[in-house]
Parts: sequence; structure tokens; C-alpha cells
Amino acid sequence: MERLQKIISNSGYTSRRKAEELIKSGKVKVNGIIVTELGTKVNKTDAIEINGTVLKVEEDKVYYLLNKPSGIISSSHDNLGRKTVVDLIDTNKRIYPIGRLDYDTTGLILLTNDGELANILMHPSYGVEKKYVARLDKYFEICDLKKLEKGIIIDGRISVPLKVKVKKNDKVKNYSVIEITIHEGRNHIIKNLFSELGYNVLKLNRLEYAFLNLENLRVGEYRRLTIKEVKKLYEYKRKNTNRKVR
Ligand code: URA
Repeated sequence: MERLQKIISNSGYTSRRKAEELIKSGKVKVNGIIVTELGTKVNKTDAIEINGTVLKVEEDKVYYLLNKPSGIISSSHDNLGRKTVVDLIDTNKRIYPIGRLDYDTTGLILLTNDGELANILMHPSYGVEKKYVARLDKYFEICDLKKLEKGIIIDGRISVPLKVKVKKNDKVKNYSVIEITIHEGRNHIIKNLFSELGYNVLKLNRLEYAFLNLENLRVGEYRRLTIKEVKKLYEYKRKNTNRKVR
């Protein structure tokens, strides 16, 4: 709760002194009721109206790191009524995910109401590194590492992973597990990369996003980012532009 004149001036509408004058002269309504008392305390969620115009009050910024389960939509609303990542977070703020993970993909996803940071992180020039682990439906042919190294054309644009590591490769059981780091944000990019090489991704999990990981978070769990982490995200620049394919 904050003093009405402070909320008005903090919103950038006018100075504190002018806000006090507006209140005293009966020009300000809170939740539809005229308020003339200067010390009145209001909530940021209260509807404040000045001369008939609704005041836009900045919400406090919040940042969450979620370990997304499979079977959840990466958006703030789903027309089919399916559960979204926002439904998993206990908040009354209007948050949304930064980027997307497919319905069946698990792992690290950030959610916020900070549009500025979301735009920065999703901009292709920012090149945030994302590390995934993919289980493929086949034994992984080592010659395909070379193909990944050179880059794969997807929808007319080349995609070059930053790092690829074969974690498991079982010829008898005919499956493989590949760790792959990319800096692209295109939808279905990992599935499309492997599909071009003739593999199906059976399971996909995002392990890392920039310098953040899933440490101490089980599937479905989330935590708030620290102020330090938020600051670091604002300052984050892709350091490793050299491809390392092993
Ligand atoms: N690439 C994919 O194919 N799916 C995801 O969910 C994320 C990256």
C-alpha cells in the first residue's frame, strides 16, 4: 500500500505537488469513488482515475525460472483450455514466458512481466545460448556430427549449433542421447535439425539458458531469480561465437 499522490507521481503522470492538488480538488477516483484525502493509501492493483483517464501503474517486476513438465503449453493463455506454464506459477502478476518450449519439451523456461528484458533476450542479435539434451530414435552416425558442424539449412536459413556432444550411443538398442547447444530461438529448431539428418527426437529437455541451469529444481518446480541474476541477464552477451563440435 502506498500514498495515492506517490503512486500518481511515480507513474510519471505529474509531480507530487500537482498530484496533491488534483486529489484535493476532487479530480481523482479510486475504484470509482472520489478521494480527496491526501494521506489515502492505495494498492497498485486499485483502479486510479484522474479526470476520467485510467492511470497506468507499473507493476513490480517479477522473474521466475521454471522446470517445465511435458504436456504444458508455453504461453500465458491457451484457446483450447490446456494448462500453461503461467498456471504453474503462484502469482497475481500478468507474467508470460520468455520464448517457447514445445508442448512435449521439458526443462528451463523463464517467465516475467518485464517486457524490456523479454524483448532483449528473445532478440536474435542477443544470441542467448541454450543447452538441450535430446534422446534420438536411432544410433547416431558420427558422420552426422560433421554435417551439424557445417550447419543445416532449415527453411532456407543455415543453423549452426555451437556445441554438440554425444552422451550415449547404443547400436544394439538403437538410440542415442545428444547434448546440443544453440543460440537460435526458432520454433522446433532442435527437432528440425535432427529431422533433417533423419532422426526423430523422442525426448527433449532444456538444461541451460544463458548462465542459468535447473539446479535443485525438480520437474514442475520453480524459483524466483535473484536481483543479481536479473542484472546479469540484462548484461548477458553471447561470449562463445566459435563453434565447438565434438
Ligand atoms: N527446439 C525444439 O525443437 N523444441 C523446443 O521445445 C525447443 C527447441
